[in-house]
Amino acid sequence: EKGTYPHFMLKEIDEQPFVMRNIIQEYQDENDDIKLDEDIRKAMSECDRVYIIAAGTSYHAGLIGKEFLEKIAEVPTEVHVASEFSYNFPLLSEKPLFVFISQSGETADLRSVLVETNKLGHPALTLTNVPGSTLSREATYTMHLHAGPEIAVASTKAYTAQMAVLAILAVDTARAKGLTLDFDPMKELGIVSSAMESLCDQKEVFEQIARDYLSTTRNCFFIGRGLDYFVGLEGALKLKEISYIQAEGFAGGELKHGTIALIEDGTPVIALATQEHVNSSIRSNVQEVVTRGANDCIISLEGLDREGDAFVIPNVHSLLTPLVSVLPLQLISYYAALHRDCDVDKPRNLAKSVTVE
Ligand code: M6R
Repeated sequence: EKGTYPHFMLKEIDEQPFVMRNIIQEYQDENDDIKLDEDIRKAMSECDRVYIIAAGTSYHAGLIGKEFLEKIAEVPTEVHVASEFSYNFPLLSEKPLFVFISQSGETADLRSVLVETNKLGHPALTLTNVPGSTLSREATYTMHLHAGPEIAVASTKAYTAQMAVLAILAVDTARAKGLTLDFDPMKELGIVSSAMESLCDQKEVFEQIARDYLSTTRNCFFIGRGLDYFVGLEGALKLKEISYIQAEGFAGGELKHGTIALIEDGTPVIALATQEHVNSSIRSNVQEVVTRGANDCIISLEGLDREGDAFVIPNVHSLLTPLVSVLPLQLISYYAALHRDCDVDKPRNLAKSVTVE
């Protein structure tokens, strides 16, 4: 039920801080250790490579998951769009572990890959919000996202839940491998939850950004570097899907290799600046587009912010910034769609779960 909310999407955006706390509770045991199926732990430590298979927003969560698995757990990881993978299997490593990420657990593109990997006898782990779903039943192992039912077609809380569960999985694997870590995922996710809450309390800022930047535009670009690039891809998908504004996400350095030709007077460019090691580079990229007339909107992280930034998100662990920096993008898309009288929860041509290939 929507309760007092005008749309499921807004309700689900607002639920994200609670979902984080829920995940912390569900994945923590009485000794404050990570609670995880021993078989999953074993499969993660024994595999020599993880193949993440997903679609849409879940694919974007997978891109972040790769960073977690490689940086935290030192597990080589590839991320693949399911629909491409199914007819174009790459050369597999000796001991692959397939990780299927799917909110619904019913996406046909993923299922056709799972059918193949099962035939080959490779272990598979499904991360899903619906434990009884097809992908969960047919995979060897399941991890539950604990996000609660997601009704709006645009995925919001499932995306942040996927990233949180992937972070926990990465830390658990690192510990199982005996790596030394200076990262307490539950503590850091608690900080993420509070940061999300403070953003949800400032919706008027994002409504205003949507009004100022997106009420009449035909297109919009999202740029970022590193993790911010992946979040930009998700921001663009969200905006396209519910407001029908042509939107693309780019790596900050890539726009100048062609797409910058599209920048005109007033073209909105939303830039994320949450990563210290690339802060000055992304700001140079913003300068490049501003010089060509772009209307820049910079969302930065506390401590990396500069005068004129449109919004500064509270400081969270540098690997977990995507869980927070996506909220402004979700809210900006929501308000842009609202201002354009779009059917926010049920955008045209789309279904909540895509059960055809
Ligand atoms: O249920 P799934 O996570 O497998 O769905 C994958 C995509 O269809 C889904 O994320 C889609 O891109 C969303 N509508 C995006 O908001």
